[in-house]
Amino acid sequence: MRGISEREKHLPNFTLPELLRIMYESKSIISLSAGEPDFTTPRPLLRYGASIIHKSTHYTPTQGLKELREAICKKLKKENKINAIPENVIVTTGSQEAIFASLLTTTDPKDQVLIPNPGYLAYLPAIELSDGKPISYKLSEENNFQPDPDQIKKLVNKKTKAIIVNSPSNPTGQIYSRKLLEEIAGIAREKNLYILSDEAYERLIYDGEKHVSIASLNGMKEYVISLYTFSKSYAMCGFRVGYVVSPKNLSESIIESSHFLTISPTHISQLMAIKALSLPNRYINRMVRAYNRRRKYLVKRLNEINLITKEPKGAFYAFSNIKYVTKKSSYKFSQDLLKKAKVAVVPGTEFGEYGEGYIRFSYATKLFLIKKALERIEKYLK
Ligand SMILES: Cc1ncc(COP(=O)(O)O)c(C=O)c1O
Repeated sequence: MRGISEREKHLPNFTLPELLRIMYESKSIISLSAGEPDFTTPRPLLRYGASIIHKSTHYTPTQGLKELREAICKKLKKENKINAIPENVIVTTGSQEAIFASLLTTTDPKDQVLIPNPGYLAYLPAIELSDGKPISYKLSEENNFQPDPDQIKKLVNKKTKAIIVNSPSNPTGQIYSRKLLEEIAGIAREKNLYILSDEAYERLIYDGEKHVSIASLNGMKEYVISLYTFSKSYAMCGFRVGYVVSPKNLSESIIESSHFLTISPTHISQLMAIKALSLPNRYINRMVRAYNRRRKYLVKRLNEINLITKEPKGAFYAFSNIKYVTKKSSYKFSQDLLKKAKVAVVPGTEFGEYGEGYIRFSYATKLFLIKKALERIEKYLK
């Protein structure tokens, strides 16, 4: 019989599309909801892309161009302290594909995968589409939105296959310390679990904090599937290029999943990614400095108007507690901000039920717009 599959019907109903529809229909709305850099891709990359377009009309190997995987290995060694070989790097169509290919490769029906809640909204559907079962571990404000290893330990059972960690975190903007990652690594080793480490925001870190890759910790290489992207560090979202660093026994299988998902990553994007890895640091640093200025301003102003916000240390999000200004649900409050204050934010519940009582602000938006948006919210709250 014709109809929509049960699998599709079971996917969570996100409220975001409705908010986005209202936003696009009204020109006067300021959006603090974007999950992507407002910067354009650095000019040298765009110029290079334009000059090589005629050379990139073919499929590439599913695993990605060897030259790119070699350049990625150099970057991994220098920045992530991970010693990888090109055979264990798989280039993907954004890290979104990397998440899917990794789950398809590791998850059998009914296997459980632990996910942060509130956490990046794609984890849950990606696990369900891989026939697995997502199990939330709670990130609470009292614990500065850090995972609690004791809680994780209690959730692990015979069906648990993997733990997803995401630092710097979307939506909380918090980062996990080496000590905490070591504790989670200990659980994975003891219980023989995979860790999927989503490091999409690895370069967007503030206040002199350091990003730690869990695969770099002692003895962890064979437990950790590390996921990276060019989308955020290089403002290359539209080019859709990411990569997986896989334990050696999984690489072939991840390549196979990836082949049937997309055949190969985009050719031109891979050539541009090679170039991106050779860019001087100043291109990223300039963006990070701008995010940092906005972060400081936004967090200060949010706390002044009682939208209580823990200082985020990474990514470009602030996650604010709304209970001091309203009794409404996150969704209703976001809808009111949209309709009455003309400011778009994302309700915390988009990131899981433990996001209730919070809203996510993105500061991947020009400072003058952030200032204007905050004036509007302050006026609305008064
Ligand atoms: C935590 C996290 N992981 C992965 C992604 C996917 O990004 P991309 O597919 O562009 O690499 C996003 C996008 O917002 C994200 O926030």
